Amino acid sequence: MNEKGKSRIVQYLDERIRIRSLMSFLLDEPMPGGANWAYVFGSMVLFTLILQFLTGIMLAFYYGGTPDHAWDSVNYIDHLTYGGMNVGRLIRGLHYWGASMMVVLVGVHLLQVFLWGAYKKPREIMWLVGVVLLALTMTAAFTGYLLPWDERAYWGTIVGTNMIGLIPMIGPILKSAIRGGIGLGALTLSHFFTIHTMVLPSIFILFVVFHMVIFRRIGPAGPFSGNSLDLEARKEFFYPRQILMDAIGMLAVFLVIASLAILRPPGLESVANPSNASYSPTPAWYFDWIFQLLKMIRPEILGVVGLPVLIGFVLILLPFFDTRPERSPFRRPFAVFSALVVLGTIMGLSVEANRGFRQLVPLDPASYTRGKVVFEKSGCMGCHMVSGKGGRLGPDLSEEGLVGHPEDWLVTQFVKSTSHFPNSPMPSFSYLKPDQLHDLAQYISSLGRAGWPDPTK
Ligand code: HEC
Repeated sequence: MNEKGKSRIVQYLDERIRIRSLMSFLLDEPMPGGANWAYVFGSMVLFTLILQFLTGIMLAFYYGGTPDHAWDSVNYIDHLTYGGMNVGRLIRGLHYWGASMMVVLVGVHLLQVFLWGAYKKPREIMWLVGVVLLALTMTAAFTGYLLPWDERAYWGTIVGTNMIGLIPMIGPILKSAIRGGIGLGALTLSHFFTIHTMVLPSIFILFVVFHMVIFRRIGPAGPFSGNSLDLEARKEFFYPRQILMDAIGMLAVFLVIASLAILRPPGLESVANPSNASYSPTPAWYFDWIFQLLKMIRPEILGVVGLPVLIGFVLILLPFFDTRPERSPFRRPFAVFSALVVLGTIMGLSVEANRGFRQLVPLDPASYTRGKVVFEKSGCMGCHMVSGKGGRLGPDLSEEGLVGHPEDWLVTQFVKSTSHFPNSPMPSFSYLKPDQLHDLAQYISSLGRAGWPDPTK
């Protein structure tokens, strides 16, 4: 289209919807100190949210939110192909990794606002709206976890809702209100689905708009250094350079999410089985540190109720207690120090939580199945117990997979127990072939681990 045609369209729209002033409102936002890569994080978070909306709507077209259909419909989505492309799995992968990415980016955005001192006057209310958005993100992650209705989803939610039940006085009522009954069932699933797809998105839109309206009225916090004359001199508008930077940031986020979705598509464990009480549930990876912390804090109620209340209070009260106008992280050593401590603690706790249940040899279902047969045929059960069956001469192996022995350690154990335990009564199984030993090691590594046994169904 030529320039003349374009200006006629603009002219037409301007007469009818006043498009010129709207565009200039959207594009000519002044950025003190000029466009900056430091500003892209907020846009990245917004991008992940929009991606969650789009992929979520697509999934909802195929999802059936009842215990009879949820798992089957997700399984169906996973196998949905168009023109030979595994489109269903890709969309679910985008939604799954989009959630992880959103949690990470919300964390980065919060950290940056904290370090830059951007929560200080006059941005206290904008910060509070951000805290609400953080809580909404976590709630969306929690409610979305149940929807595939597989073992992991079911038992993870049992644990999560049990925690709610520990709150004094109102806990039990709250728990059964959320579950829609005593146990997890059809009502729980429709409660979670409605919260996840209707309640949260509408509140999200409301608060994101609120967040951005405040942002436009107060303006970006700008660099923490430099005098105002200098910043004014380097001032730029949102369009074009900042828009370009934001677009590049969003593209990078999309590429990361898409690669993860393609290379590591989300799994689907066997359908939720309420009688499989031996299942050991694990949370989504970004909740690992909380899971670990809750394991360590005793009495339980102190962690379950005290911890969220404490975190909530600190976040809400921060801008009202820290009222010094100083924003530069270089002049706020205590703020930087506490951010590092919190970050280090979260990472340390996550690593600790993962030791045992995630960083083990990747398991191969076929090998596991063969290994189980070798185990049963070689007389291991004469001395070892697994899930309550077997002898007592050797240690109970029901949770041996959580010990995290590497494969070569296990194979040595099968072939020559005395090299680990002098005077060991465990016989040598050196007559087994190398691949039988491998299969056996796979089987032993699975014991007690989330999702095993029965990975194939
Ligand atoms: C005669 C009894 C006996 C039999 C049969 C036996 N074990 Fe053992 N096993 C033991 C004892 C006892 C130990 C404890 C270490 C020790 O004191 O020797 C042990 C230790 C182990 C351990 C290491 C546990 C740990 O983490 O310290 C593994 C793994 C194991 N056995 C697997 C097997 C497998 C697999 C088989 C079958 C192929 C088998 N065992 C057969 C007696 C037995």
